[in-house]
Amino acid sequence: MIPNIILVGFMGSGKSSVGRRLAALTEHRFVDTDDLVAENEGLSIPEIFSAAGEEGFRLCEEAALADLEGETGVVVSTGGGMVLRESNRGRLRRMGIVVWLDADPEVLFERATRTGRRPLLQTDDPQGRFASLLESRRPIYEEVSDARVDSTGLSHDEAAAKILEAVAADPRGKD
Ligand code: S3P
Repeated sequence: MIPNIILVGFMGSGKSSVGRRLAALTEHRFVDTDDLVAENEGLSIPEIFSAAGEEGFRLCEEAALADLEGETGVVVSTGGGMVLRESNRGRLRRMGIVVWLDADPEVLFERATRTGRRPLLQTDDPQGRFASLLESRRPIYEEVSDARVDSTGLSHDEAAAKILEAVAADPRGKD
């Protein structure tokens, strides 16, 4: 039985797209915590940020993750800031194998700003905001994860295959 696979990483790392491929490959159910938050609140993520601020969003995010604890057979894609709360980090670790999906900063920035829908980057200086968030978060992704996969230059299928290799190399990933 393949354990739960939890994807963490910065905005633009490809967690949702790669997570969907991984779910298809493992026959796990795909869950995206941003989608859960949006469903629970009946609002889009930008709407939640404008109505309740980042703190309000973080509360909804924590609740959505808490609801998932105990699930089996899932691939979970988490929002880029899920790792900020210690309580979430403990939960992520308990839930399964945590993989940090990473990429070169230029690639992350290009992908993260492509849709113009990331509330945290709606500032006068998105590049500066991006750089400071990335710098402060990298050590946290490192700390919480069991493995790191760099998706720079990889297709979603290739990144998913690399994640499966990392999972198989983990003692909990063996049958
Ligand atoms: C956030 C990342 C977003 C979303 C929200 C906050 C962050 O998810 O949860 O806008 O703090 O990095 P993605 O990583 O899927 O873009």
